[in-house]
Amino acid sequence: MSLTGKRIAITGAFGSLGAAVVQTALAAGARVAAIDRAEAPPAGIDLGAAECFGGVDLADADQAKAAIGKAVTAMGGLDALVNIAGTFRFETLADGGAGTWDLLYRVNLRTAVAASKAALAHLPDGGRIVNIGAAGALKAGAGMGAYAASKSGVMRLTESLAEELKSRSITVNALLPSIIDTPPNRKDMPKADFDKWVKPAQLADVIVFLLSEQASAITGALIPVTGRV
Ligand SMILES: NC(=O)c1ccc[n+]([C@@H]2O[C@H](COP(=O)([O-])OP(=O)(O)OC[C@H]3O[C@@H](n4cnc5c(N)ncnc54)[C@H](OP(=O)(O)O)[C@@H]3O)[C@@H](O)[C@H]2O)c1
Repeated sequence: MSLTGKRIAITGAFGSLGAAVVQTALAAGARVAAIDRAEAPPAGIDLGAAECFGGVDLADADQAKAAIGKAVTAMGGLDALVNIAGTFRFETLADGGAGTWDLLYRVNLRTAVAASKAALAHLPDGGRIVNIGAAGALKAGAGMGAYAASKSGVMRLTESLAEELKSRSITVNALLPSIIDTPPNRKDMPKADFDKWVKPAQLADVIVFLLSEQASAITGALIPVTGRV
């Protein structure tokens, strides 16, 4: 799958999934702007030729606009946005509170809204947006309410923006991963069968497909990518 000549902004790019998507997009020939709240990629994570913009809180609309503007300047334009910034909390209502719902709304949904709005000023007709929802948001289990609500918001944003942008042939899709095989997840669940978990590289391959010319007819799709879970 070729992304030669495509200029792609990736949020949450210093994290486990984000770094894999940066590396896969670069290998497919894209130019990449890597945006994250962390100041720099963690030690040992090589983002190659990507232009890195750290220290950006994408839930803040002004910061999102400024970061996307810098990415556009660095790459000479913008063809696609991949919204990966996000986080997770498990918390029952009895043991938690409304602050967790606010936090997850802010980090999972508001970041995607602000970055997408900033990107819309630059994306050409035929552009691309890819979001990250969650398979666990299709039906919330105990302790998953705040997370599922925020990711449901990402999924509804995906559907509504896909309709809004159809006339410009800009596609908007979301992946719904189950648990991803990341170092923090392995640390948190040491007895799990890691082979069943979807790999960041497998998710990155699907994202690169959605960014490619071959996926131009897919929009508004919520695509489970769940390995063997
Ligand atoms: N891991 C899983 O099992 C799993 C399953 C389903 C869906 N997902 C989703 O997949 C995505 C990536 O997950 P991951 O495991 O790769 O997470 P991760 O390693 O924690 O990476 C997420 C990155 O997003 C950044 N970020 C958080 N808030 C931000 C903000 N306000 N502005 C800019 N950047 C921000 C984080 O920076 P800081 O470190 O500074 O906060 C971090 O670098 C997330 O949307 C997550 O919800 C993950």
